[in-house]
Amino acid sequence: MAMPGRLYGLGVGPGDPELLTLKALRLLREVPVIAYPAPEQGESFARSIVADWIRADQREIAICFPMRPGPPPVAIYDAAAAGLAAELDQGRDVALLCQGDPLFYGSSINIFSRLAAGYQIKIVPGVSSLTACAAAAAFPLVSRAESLVVIPATLDEEHIAASLAGADVAVIIKLGRHVSKVRRVLDQVGLLQKAVYVAHATLLTECVTPLAGVVPDKVPYFSMALIRRSSAS
Ligand SMILES: C[S@@+](CC[C@H](N)C(=O)[O-])C[C@H]1O[C@@H](n2cnc3c(N)ncnc32)[C@H](O)[C@@H]1O
Repeated sequence: MAMPGRLYGLGVGPGDPELLTLKALRLLREVPVIAYPAPEQGESFARSIVADWIRADQREIAICFPMRPGPPPVAIYDAAAAGLAAELDQGRDVALLCQGDPLFYGSSINIFSRLAAGYQIKIVPGVSSLTACAAAAAFPLVSRAESLVVIPATLDEEHIAASLAGADVAVIIKLGRHVSKVRRVLDQVGLLQKAVYVAHATLLTECVTPLAGVVPDKVPYFSMALIRRSSAS
């Protein structure tokens, strides 16, 4: 029997292909199998970032994750992990592409956890949206003894308000269709005027503007709010 292949979790960065690491690029070129999350319709964002380097002789596996709210799609994770395990069992190395950084809210975390006991997994970090958005807005993320909290906008208003309470700096991710709710909470706690909105960081469609002025209907999923209680000293 062949030695099992190795699974690489490749962070491919926030969108600009130039933000791919040299290591991710080398591994991407070396592996015979490339897997990536994909929507049920349309193209995979992670794949689009590295599309120029994928060769026709590399096998591609699109893992279709439902992009709608609801409980975690356990059956889809199980099936995807089994599909990658079948490749690894044949001795083939697999690169699982992860937009941004694999371990920062990456859906691939659910694949790694299923395969960790049986296979060698190597994670290659990527530039996360957290640092990409801060850079786009020239927003000092954290300095000296400041604390940072990352809050998914999918939480309810009470949880968002509670998470904001103790932080010097907060980042609210997965803004998209939750933007009105997030603005309401920020207004209630007196932070709305301090919130910076960043969408599509590092892409040609990048947008940086005060959150208070954005049109809710136009807020894409790939956006976040950066909030700093007081200016960095
Ligand atoms: C499921 S998380 C994945 C994060 C990713 N693993 C990372 O390291 O950035 C998706 C959320 O990340 C944020 N995001 C990812 N890429 C972004 C970008 N280029 N610009 C703005 N926000 C982005 C958005 O808040 C989006 O809803």
